[in-house]
Parts: sequence; structure tokens; C-alpha cells
Amino acid sequence: MDNLYKYLTEHSTPQTEALEWIERQTHIRTNHARMLTGPVQGRFIKMLAAALAPKRILEIGTFTGYSAVCLAMALPEDGHLDTLEINDELEDLILEGFARAGVSDKANLMIGDARETLAVLRKEILEEGTRPAYDMAYIDANKREYPDYYRLVFDIVKPGGYILADNVLWDGKVYQSPVPQDRQTLGIAEFNDMAAQDPRVESVIIPVRDGLNLIRKIPGIPFEK
Ligand SMILES: C[S@@+](CC[C@H](N)C(=O)[O-])C[C@H]1O[C@@H](n2cnc3c(N)ncnc32)[C@H](O)[C@@H]1O
Repeated sequence: MDNLYKYLTEHSTPQTEALEWIERQTHIRTNHARMLTGPVQGRFIKMLAAALAPKRILEIGTFTGYSAVCLAMALPEDGHLDTLEINDELEDLILEGFARAGVSDKANLMIGDARETLAVLRKEILEEGTRPAYDMAYIDANKREYPDYYRLVFDIVKPGGYILADNVLWDGKVYQSPVPQDRQTLGIAEFNDMAAQDPRVESVIIPVRDGLNLIRKIPGIPFEK
């Protein structure tokens, strides 16, 4: 742990026991613990979501459920989180984490490729009207697919709602000159350009950890069907 991260951790409210369990299990049971949101950013997104007061949240990229639990903790009693994950091997760990955190009633795990799941959600929300739209979406899955997620998620977030995307600085690669041409960097760079140039939103990149892009749909813009 570097000195800055150690200081931030020691001077932010400690994570809950359930989040500590998820973090520990992630280290023991996966090889990708660096993907975890972690205590500092986890606390930040929980407090940000609480301030924005969404009732319905959509998350793309559950991994072991750390950020899902943080977001669910910010929801009111009757709030709801749908969280999308492609890797079905993580399901048991995610669901146990939800139970330990006491959010099983609010958090719904949807296993499958997010782009396919989003197509179904779009149909249910925009065409059939069988599912309510979201107040907030948190994007944290495949960096190559960020532009697709933006296009697919935009219409199912309510006007005035928020899209928050993680890792938008991608370890500084998006502002290197020349910009590296790998598909992850290009995906994130395109996503940040889309948000910055979209007249339907206001947006700001917050340099917390690997960067969060906070995007607000300006109210008054109707749903596109
Ligand atoms: C950075 S991790 C998410 C971390 C998580 N939000 C957290 O804070 O603990 C990205 C996750 O997205 C998942 N993922 C990647 N591509 C996906 C896709 N097309 N659909 C759904 N999930 C995907 C990966 O399997 C991985 O678990």
C-alpha cells in the first residue's frame, strides 16, 4: 500500500465487516483483486449515491460485488439495484456478500453479457413499460465496451439521472501523447469524448483513484424509443 492510499484509508470511515469479507474473499478466490473498488472509492461512491438519492440503480460490472454493496447501502428501504456480470463463476461469492451485507432484498444480480442484458432491459423499459427506468447507472465492466454501454444505458436512465463511470483516466493513458492505441484505452478515450461532446449532458471527471466520470442527463430531454 503506498503512503497516500494508506493515509486515505486511515482517514476515511472504515469499511463494514461485510465489505471487509468481500475484499478478503476477492484476494483469496480470484486473481484480479486489483479490479476491486476498495474502501476509499467504495465509501466515495456510497456517499455520492446517498447524496444523489436514487431509488433505482443499474451497475455494469459486478465482479465480486464490492461496489454493488456500496451502492445498495445508499438506497432507501424500497430502493433497487440491478447489477450485471458476465462471469457466472462469481455468482456464489457475490450472493453471499449481498447476504452478509444485508442487501439481498435490494440487489439483483443479472448474469450474462451486459450488452445483451441491456438490450433486454431497454425493451422492457422503453417498449413494454414493464420495468421502471433508472435514476443512476454505474459503469465498471469491459473498458473496450464503454462507448456501447453509454449508448445502451443513456435512454434507460431518467432525465435528471446520473451515469457514473469508473477508470476513465486508465492509469493516465487517455492523456498520454501520443495516446496508446490498445482497445481499452481507445474505448475509454471515446467514452470520455462522447460525454464531453454530448449536448444532452453535463459531465465532470473526478480524479479519485483511476478517475470517475460523473455525467448528468439534463432534465427535459425525452426518452428516445
Ligand atoms: C473492474 S471489474 C468490476 C469491479 C466492481 N465494480 C467492483 O467495484 O468490485 C469488471 C467486471 O466486469 C465484468 N465484465 C466484463 N465484460 C462484461 C460484459 N460484457 N458484461 C458483463 N460483465 C462484464 C468482468 O467479468 C468483471 O467482473
